[in-house]
Amino acid sequence: MTVSLNEQAIEVLRKNDRGGFTIPTARLYPYQWNWDSAFVALGFATFDRARAWRELELLVEGQWSNGMIPHIIFRRDDPDYFPGPSVWRTEGGKFPSGGISQPPVLASIVCNLMEQGDTDDQAKARGLFDAMFAWHNWFHTERTPDGHDIVCTVHPWETGRDNCPDWDLGLERMIVDINIEPYVRKDIEHTNALERPSKVQYDKFVTIIKAGRDLNWDQRRLTNEGPFLMADPGIHFILLRADRDLLKIAKTLGLNEYVDQIQGWIDVAIAASDYLWNDDLGAFCARDVLSGELSQGFSNASALCFYADAGNIEQRKRSVENMERIGAKVNFMLPSWDPDAEGFEAQRYWCGPVWPQMNHIISKGLAEQGESALADRVRNDLASAIQQSGFFECFNSMTGAGCIGTNFSWTAAMWLAWATPNKMAL
Ligand code: DGY
Repeated sequence: MTVSLNEQAIEVLRKNDRGGFTIPTARLYPYQWNWDSAFVALGFATFDRARAWRELELLVEGQWSNGMIPHIIFRRDDPDYFPGPSVWRTEGGKFPSGGISQPPVLASIVCNLMEQGDTDDQAKARGLFDAMFAWHNWFHTERTPDGHDIVCTVHPWETGRDNCPDWDLGLERMIVDINIEPYVRKDIEHTNALERPSKVQYDKFVTIIKAGRDLNWDQRRLTNEGPFLMADPGIHFILLRADRDLLKIAKTLGLNEYVDQIQGWIDVAIAASDYLWNDDLGAFCARDVLSGELSQGFSNASALCFYADAGNIEQRKRSVENMERIGAKVNFMLPSWDPDAEGFEAQRYWCGPVWPQMNHIISKGLAEQGESALADRVRNDLASAIQQSGFFECFNSMTGAGCIGTNFSWTAAMWLAWATPNKMAL
């Protein structure tokens, strides 16, 4: 008997379920990751709504008292992963966790579940509202450097796009701290090193963790004084969209006392988008805050201006032209990095593969803004890669071969919720 891809996807989610929260994949990522969990909830919602909400409730359990929801929640120590809780040494919340955050898709997923659902879903959304508001407030205050209007990032891992060449500008300026403790990478014991970040990048990733520890994870100081500070179109546009969705939730639930504050965040973010505009390339790009330098490639985060409903007509037109240029070069859209830019590698993590969760929000934004041909291509190419290779973490943008993690939760979730043929657009 052939098991359908839908059944396989449900099986992936069930096997990665650790009792109310879902790990991305066994061994390589053995904890609860922030944006992974949010996307995974959309997959669960297709067959078990209560479980979908549970995923989000357990994510919020990891929130720090300052409002930050960390990128990883370490409910127990697992020797399969580096850097674990003994390296981060955080004390900001109920559980040990990473000391940085991740792209805040949560409010958008909650809004989505609420809009598809009934009064029970509204009650669930209400239960999460205060946590989401506090988290967004944290980004707008603690992660906005003095003298700037744009939310920034202090670690490539916070962007979720770990080794994208976007971060070379900030990483190249950094000096590896000679006092970092010797460490053994676990990721390359579980997967092919050619598909993962380099040793030099890891040394710098660990150097930033040491800087955070040395500052006792004072997030304002880490933003203003840390060794790495860049603005990311991914975080910027995802947060802008999430603020818009949080506003919708507040209005639907009659939480009028929050409306002005959220609208204020949205207004500032729309104006701040120009800080990321690279007029030579015709794209929203990452920017090193200290030097002011802009990255020189069109990443899949550049394409999120549509999802955020940001950018003027000219900026959107030029962004579409970049996507069409890239679409003529690769067989699977949309690669995480520009095939015409330095550093493109079709199989290496964020240097060129196609990412299921990114394709979902990119396609959603393009469809909403009337770019239906591109939206369909981004969705159909992901569906083809999954049909060809299975539920991998990401896919080689030239061949569609699966890369890195197998039986991957967000890929299964994106298949069930959005990429499976005949699915209504979410
Ligand atoms: C990793 O360990 O590769 C993660 O991306 C960090 O969040």
